[in-house]
Amino acid sequence: MDALLQGMRAVAEPTRLRVLALCAHAELTVTELTQILGQSQPRVSRHLKLLVDAGLLDRFREGTWAFYRLAEQSICAALGRQIVDLIPQDDHVLALDLERLNAIKQNRAEQAAAYFRMSAPKWDEIRKFHIGDSEIEQAIQKLMPPAEIGELLDIGTGTGRMLELYGKSAKRAVGIDMSREMLAVARANLERAGLRNCQVRLGDMYQLPVPSGSFDSVMIHQVLHYADAPGDAILEAARVLRPGGRLIVIDFAPHREESLRVDHAHRRLGFTDTEIANWLKRAGLVAAAPTRLHGDPLTICLWCARRPAVKTAPAHWRSDADERLSPDNKNRSRPQREVS
Ligand SMILES: C[S@@+](CC[C@H](N)C(=O)[O-])C[C@H]1O[C@@H](n2cnc3c(N)ncnc32)[C@H](O)[C@@H]1O
Repeated sequence: MDALLQGMRAVAEPTRLRVLALCAHAELTVTELTQILGQSQPRVSRHLKLLVDAGLLDRFREGTWAFYRLAEQSICAALGRQIVDLIPQDDHVLALDLERLNAIKQNRAEQAAAYFRMSAPKWDEIRKFHIGDSEIEQAIQKLMPPAEIGELLDIGTGTGRMLELYGKSAKRAVGIDMSREMLAVARANLERAGLRNCQVRLGDMYQLPVPSGSFDSVMIHQVLHYADAPGDAILEAARVLRPGGRLIVIDFAPHREESLRVDHAHRRLGFTDTEIANWLKRAGLVAAAPTRLHGDPLTICLWCARRPAVKTAPAHWRSDADERLSPDNKNRSRPQREVS
C-alpha cells in the first residue's frame, strides 16, 4: 500500500506526468528530457529521482550516460503504464512533447543513417574488428542448426552477411534494413553468391514490412545497440515468428567502450542478460540460457528464445501488419511502446 501511495504522490505533478509519458515512448537520457521539457537539468534530475524512487521509472547507467525508461518489475510498474494509457491522446502538452521527442529521434536516426551510408562499402571490414567472426558463426549454428532454419528473417541485415551464411540452408530468407546503401551492397553480395531464395527489403525494425507469424527463424545480429527502444524491436521481431519459431539476438554484453558511441553511432553499450530476458518474456517468448563469447574488451552474447508452439498471441500483437505491406502505408509512424 505504501509503495502505491508513494507512486501516486510522485506522479501527481505535471512535469513528472510528462516525464512518465515520454519514457513510455523511448529510453531517454536526462539531457534529452531537458531538451524536450525546456527545464533546467537539476530540476529534471530532481523529478527523475522522485519517479525512480517511487518505482515508476527504471534508471540504468552505461558509461557516461544514464537512461530512464518505464519501470518493468517494480510494484508501481503497472500503475505507471496504466496512468500513461489514461492520458488523452489529444492532450496538447503531450502532443508537443512527443513532437519534440520525435525531432530528437529523427536527428539521431539521421546521424545513424549517415554513419551507415558512409560505412556501407566497408562494413564487412569494420565488423571484423568486433570479435572473431567464425566463433560467433559456430555459436549461431549451434543455436540454429541448418536443418531447422526454415524461413528466415534477418533484421538489420546490413550488407547481407547473415543471409550469405544461413540463407543457403533456409527455405526462403528475407533481410530488412533501413539503409538503402547497405541494401545495395547486400543485393550485390547475394547476387554474387547466387542465393536466389534470399531477398532484401527496405524497412524499419519497429515496423517490419512482413505479416505476423510468417517466419520460423528471426535474427537480430549486431543491430539492437543502435535502438532507442530495444524492447520494442524485440516485441516486433516476436510478432513475425511462427508458433515454435526461434529468435536469436546477438549483441554485446555491457561494456565501457564510449568510443563506439562517438565513432560508430552506438546508442547502447551492450545489454545485460536480465534486460534482454525481460524483453523476451514481455514478447511472449521462452528464453534459453544465453551463450557468452568472451572477448577483450567486447564480449558477445547470443540470446535465443522460442515462441511457444501453442498459439498464445499477446493481445498487443496487432493484425495490421499485412496492411503495412501496402505501398500506401509507407509513412506510418512507429508503433508506440507497448504498455500491456
Ligand atoms: C552493425 S550493422 C549489422 C549488419 C548485419 N546484421 C551484420 O551483422 O553484418 C547494423 C545494421 O542495422 C541497420 N539498422 C539500424 N537501425 C535500424 C532500424 N531501425 N531498422 C532497420 N535496420 C536498422 C543499419 O542500417 C545497419 O545496416
